[in-house]
Amino acid sequence: MKEKLQSIREEALRAIAAADAPESLNDVRVKYLGKKGGLTAVLKSMKDVAPEDRPKVGQMVNETREIIEKAMEETKEKMARALRRERMKKEVIDVTLPSKKNMVGHRHPNTIALEEVERIFIGMGYEVVEGPDVEYDLYNFEKLNIPADHPAKDEQDTFYINKDIVLRTQTSPVQARVMEQGKLPIRMIAPGRVFRSDEVDATHSPSFHQVEGLVVDKNISFADLKGTLEVFAKELFGPDTKTKFRPHHFPFTEPSAEVDVSCFKCGGKGCRFCKGSGWIEILGCGAVHPHVLEMCGIDSEEYTGFAFGMGLERIALLKYEIDDMRLLYENDIRFLRQF
Ligand code: DAH
Repeated sequence: MKEKLQSIREEALRAIAAADAPESLNDVRVKYLGKKGGLTAVLKSMKDVAPEDRPKVGQMVNETREIIEKAMEETKEKMARALRRERMKKEVIDVTLPSKKNMVGHRHPNTIALEEVERIFIGMGYEVVEGPDVEYDLYNFEKLNIPADHPAKDEQDTFYINKDIVLRTQTSPVQARVMEQGKLPIRMIAPGRVFRSDEVDATHSPSFHQVEGLVVDKNISFADLKGTLEVFAKELFGPDTKTKFRPHHFPFTEPSAEVDVSCFKCGGKGCRFCKGSGWIEILGCGAVHPHVLEMCGIDSEEYTGFAFGMGLERIALLKYEIDDMRLLYENDIRFLRQF
């Protein structure tokens, strides 16, 4: 029995010394100390040992186990220490190396243009509000006085989710939503994405952006609209910019107009940029139709208002002299970095 234990001990210590990884140490544990291991076998054969010798043999078995366990523990620690040393060596940071340059993105021309528009109107006391991209037909058309047979409602022009819900074709529905809340006076702009069933080309996209404007208060007249947009145009395109109001029709404003600004490239003489006319169209506007006010719960005898709407891309294209709208959607950093 004694020789048996001695040979188990020697074999196990040799195996421990030869182990090159924590996993092989575990194999040693299973082989010598495990349920089916060598030492357990010796314990099981105790019944063949004379009763008076059993305590002695038991003690020897325990001693052997302790020796093996201790050797295993020490080796395990040694391995862990070596591993840690190895890792530290690999993870050394050379603080003298130049750092990697961060690729910082660039603000999109649309964003720059929008922030400029917002800055101008916030300066005049306007609030910036938002409405949903997916909108009820009720707000997108009906409450804006747009009749059921209006060409804009055609499926050729509007993306329908179902017969009552559309992807908004304009930011004008935000007007109705704000008026309905009933907090007067109103002085707001509403920027956002709009959708139309258009093919992509240099001047069209199925998804683009508009900025809506609305003022409702007592004694608001068309003169206030003209003055406001004149200030806006001068701020946006320079102090020499002239504005021209051309009569137009929008269902939700009466009277309505389209606004041109004098060409900031040629000053109005006529050039390639303004197609020789000296003027560039920038937005639609008008006095809020009394029927629209009434539909949104506002007394049109007491309150009047004006509204306007512009294409954000159009502003960005004009301001930065970009000649193809598709460039705004390709997100090529070489293009974007120029602005
Ligand atoms: N919603 C119009 C469009 O998409 C633009 C517009 C015109 C907005 C006149 C207005 C407005 O608020 O008064 O063409």
